[in-house]
Amino acid sequence: MTSSPTPPAARRIGVLTGGGDAPGLNAVIRAVVKSAANVQCEVVGLLDSFDGLIEPDRQRPLTPKDVTGILRLGGTILGTTNRGNPFAYPVKTSEGTRDYSDRCVETFRTLGLEALIVIGGDGTLAIAYEFHKRGLPVVGVPKTIDNDIVETSSTFGFDSAVSFATDAIDRLHTTAEAHHRIMVVEVMGRYAGWIALHAGIAGGADVILIPEIPFDLDRVAGRIREREHWGARFSIVVVAEGAKPVGGDVSVATPASAGAVERLGGIGARVARDLERLTGKETRDVVLGHLQRGGAPTSYDRVLATRLGARAFELARDGTFGCMVASHPPEVVAVPLERVVGRMKHVPTDCDIVRAARAVGIALGD
Ligand code: F6P
Repeated sequence: MTSSPTPPAARRIGVLTGGGDAPGLNAVIRAVVKSAANVQCEVVGLLDSFDGLIEPDRQRPLTPKDVTGILRLGGTILGTTNRGNPFAYPVKTSEGTRDYSDRCVETFRTLGLEALIVIGGDGTLAIAYEFHKRGLPVVGVPKTIDNDIVETSSTFGFDSAVSFATDAIDRLHTTAEAHHRIMVVEVMGRYAGWIALHAGIAGGADVILIPEIPFDLDRVAGRIREREHWGARFSIVVVAEGAKPVGGDVSVATPASAGAVERLGGIGARVARDLERLTGKETRDVVLGHLQRGGAPTSYDRVLATRLGARAFELARDGTFGCMVASHPPEVVAVPLERVVGRMKHVPTDCDIVRAARAVGIALGD
């Protein structure tokens, strides 16, 4: 992280959104643009993540008028991609990938930009850090529904995803109870169990399976039989997409390929099939998938996104670069990007929320 004592105010700032979308991206963009307009700074939106620095004409000026009314919109007005790493860009040749980073630096200079605000998850922030090392003045803003970015207490998008998943679990309760079934709900979160744990607790799940605690389905089936004994003839099982059995592997929907990480998926169906066999109870599975990323951000996410966006602009204006804005309640602070990249925030298995889940009788599969 570098900071100039008498900061040369950045007068023209680029902003981009990278990786999977998350509710609240537009709220960050809006906060950056409105903060910048207050001090006559220009903002240039780069379209489709770093593609906006690779290809000509993939930029648009952003004025307060352009961001009016977007606070409550999901998605991102700038577009995004989780396949566009400029240092290893997938191309349809025998090379597989190509390095476009020089071109990005050149475009940044040609556009007359003096700062770059990068809104993204771990992959996008790692790219931002590489550009910081190449001399670009970057400020990162953490984004992900998965809540797996280190050094920040939360990320916007997470609360919206949890609230959608909780609502889905509430709905599944009534049909599960009516049919005396087991309902298995697979939620997103990649290799971290935050969404499953929060939505499972909020939705009153009976079982929550997370990547951090490998599960034993015999134990889960035992818990479901116990419930049956005392008259609860249905069960709700929330499974994180990254959950895995003891000694087993994650379920991969699509393996990694040039420029793209592996996609997880399928564990819910496996768990449902095995639980039906082990308990003899009729079982159904539901995958919430990208519904968790869609729709309007919750009020919590709108506020967090606005705070992060406003702070990111302040840092850019003041010439503080190579950092990520982070929520450290009650403040938003700057942390060096090097402390963030290459790390993942997992659920600590002895943390308060895990203990609370166990205290209210939720089985965690161990
Ligand atoms: O990181 C956000 C996330 O939604 C994960 O929870 C999920 O595993 C992944 O992105 C899905 O990626 P895609 O949009 O490429 O299917």
